[in-house]
Amino acid sequence: MELREVIGRRRSIRFVRPYMPVEPEKIQMMFEAARIASHWGNVQTLRAIAIHRDTAPQEVLDNLTAMVVGWQLRIAPVVIIWYLDPDAVDDQADSLRGLVKAGALGFGPQELKEKTLEEKMIPMFASVQDFLKGPGLSEIDCGQGIAQATLMAYEQGLGTCFLGSPNSEGILRACGIPERCRMLLMQTVGYPAEHWEAGGQRPRLPFEDLFHKNEYGKPYPRSQDVIDELTEDKMFTRPAPLPDRMDELDYLQSALNLQAPGLL
Ligand SMILES: Cc1cc2nc3c(=O)[nH]c(=O)nc-3n(C[C@H](O)[C@H](O)[C@H](O)COP(=O)(O)O)c2cc1C
Repeated sequence: MELREVIGRRRSIRFVRPYMPVEPEKIQMMFEAARIASHWGNVQTLRAIAIHRDTAPQEVLDNLTAMVVGWQLRIAPVVIIWYLDPDAVDDQADSLRGLVKAGALGFGPQELKEKTLEEKMIPMFASVQDFLKGPGLSEIDCGQGIAQATLMAYEQGLGTCFLGSPNSEGILRACGIPERCRMLLMQTVGYPAEHWEAGGQRPRLPFEDLFHKNEYGKPYPRSQDVIDELTEDKMFTRPAPLPDRMDELDYLQSALNLQAPGLL
């Protein structure tokens, strides 16, 4: 599948097949994609634990609770706990040295680059280390890694859905993750029980309201040719709600024996 089609198929899949385990190799593929994502200073704060329902300790499973729509956690064969380790920032000097060695940072004579790095750049980063360990920049980088892993999941025919949790501390503790780490998100992973369209492309704000050129309020030009090309390449798909979606939801509720109708 081409990237554009994978992006078009990336939508929250809440209904997955509980009886079909996800191969560890496919989760590994997701983690491999996350590992090579960009990170400021190359420090790499993103971490994850994949909870496989068939082998995980009961205490871990019991702690998986969601803010909204928790039933997905009970049927998904795998739940990935994405979290961030701020202590990776402690190694930023070495990460920067690695970048200079790799030829990824700066230009000109190597000795000059190394001197500037040691005398200017590393002390500058060190002076704002506490700020860099705090919430902000690193979360953005982790988001990039999670996004790459997510596209990899869809490329392999899997479906996923993100879930926030009111029980971050409990989840970190049950998984044995050090207290200093910040929980980011849970991501359910499984083989879709619903059609890949999942009722159609979910509504989005108008392009013109989101993206601007040169000045705030001046919409970025949107060419119909580009829209047509992306439609042809299957990045843009039929908008929700599709005509048979409500019947599909009734079918899924009954097939998966989901008890409480409604949103939660
Ligand atoms: C960071 C993040 C957190 C989310 N948390 C939840 C959640 O707690 N419960 C839930 O049902 N969906 C959650 N979602 C899924 C969104 O509701 C979903 O992305 C949105 O409805 C748009 O649908 P789409 O992903 O299919 O485009 C979350 C999505 C993201 C990106």
